[in-house]
Amino acid sequence: MPHIVFSENKQLITPSNFDGVDFNFIAKSYNNSDKPKKTEYKIGVKNQNKEFLLTLKDNNENKMIKVDKATRVTPVTIVKDALNSYSSATNAQVIFSNTNNFSQKIEPEKEYLKDIEYFVNEFQTDKEIQIEIGFGSGRHLLYQAKNNPDVQFIGLEIHTPSIEQMLKQVKILGIKNILAVNYDARLFMEFIKSNSVGKIFVHFPIPWDKKPHRRVYSTDFIYEAKRVLKYNGTLELRTDSRKYFDFCVELLTSLSSGKIEIDINKDLPISSKYEDRWKRQNKNIYDVTLYSNSIDDDIEPETDFSFDEKIDLLKTFEKLPKKSVIFDGFFFHIEDIFIIENEKNSGLIQATFGSFNRPVSKYLLIKNGDISYYQGAPIPTSSNIQAHNKMKEIFKNDNC
Ligand SMILES: C[S@@+](CC[C@H](N)C(=O)[O-])C[C@H]1O[C@@H](n2cnc3c(N)ncnc32)[C@H](O)[C@@H]1O
Repeated sequence: MPHIVFSENKQLITPSNFDGVDFNFIAKSYNNSDKPKKTEYKIGVKNQNKEFLLTLKDNNENKMIKVDKATRVTPVTIVKDALNSYSSATNAQVIFSNTNNFSQKIEPEKEYLKDIEYFVNEFQTDKEIQIEIGFGSGRHLLYQAKNNPDVQFIGLEIHTPSIEQMLKQVKILGIKNILAVNYDARLFMEFIKSNSVGKIFVHFPIPWDKKPHRRVYSTDFIYEAKRVLKYNGTLELRTDSRKYFDFCVELLTSLSSGKIEIDINKDLPISSKYEDRWKRQNKNIYDVTLYSNSIDDDIEPETDFSFDEKIDLLKTFEKLPKKSVIFDGFFFHIEDIFIIENEKNSGLIQATFGSFNRPVSKYLLIKNGDISYYQGAPIPTSSNIQAHNKMKEIFKNDNC
């Protein structure tokens, strides 16, 4: 992580511009305001049209400046330039720096790797969609894509090295119909249109026998899977874990409609890496396939992340719960606030919220009491919307 450690420097003036970098505001942590030996600031910067925060830690002996992780932007050169500009603008006496931009490698664009925003805002296809969850080495996904060129495959995986490895093969094999996304499968389906998916493959998911709540399959997941499946579309589980299999059969048989099919040691034309491993150990392989037999309504996700009322930043923070506030399926936690001392009733609220599986860390920017999300609204998952509405309600009760 690029950062600069320095002994002394001049105070940063905001708003100002230095070397093409805008320094818009500097906000001081309120949580640590009673600990003068450990002060933290967030500096709002804009470089090459991208806004982000720098974190300045001042422990009285040394100071350190780096990018705030939750607001990090790419490429990293944009961040390094901003750190170097801060250092020059404030005449910092540098002790350590790793912000040299000369040997910066330019990351090749990954045509077949998409972020979740792409699926929220842009993704469209006339082809049938098939989804593989937790594709691992990608053997099954690559085989399917190669043999079904008219199908658009989406591969979901949360393990970055597996994604890199699969994308290398996509290039070598000249495959054009896979999009990979690094996102939790339990939350992804929300962004897919109803009745648009032919098949969902879940092959050898982590069994989580001791922590079943972490499993991909849950009541919510199968409802969402059924919604996105076309009439006669299939959700296919293949597993070596008898416990996972039994758990899924129970979930699927409690649905009010649908057909299920069960197989033991069924042969498939392609064997995945994990499948090979379990076969070598002579383990049984269980399949349970759900056939959807319904046409589901389209969902219109709520996307309103606005706040209507002004707040009094300090008064509100004093009244806000300091611990996580937990509801059914979502939570929020206000971590800290940062006060912009040269602007009236302005600063940042640092919040973590949304689903327990994939919480979002974001800042709310307060300008003269008006609230907006710094760097724009969060991804419109149902848990983010619910958390937003709860925060909005609480701010409303506490407004000035
Ligand atoms: C046991 S491996 C199986 C890989 C592959 N399907 C195979 O058969 O060789 C399970 C894979 O699921 C991925 N995974 C686990 N939880 C996930 C989730 N919630 N969303 C997407 N992928 C997940 C893991 O990173 C891992 O690569």
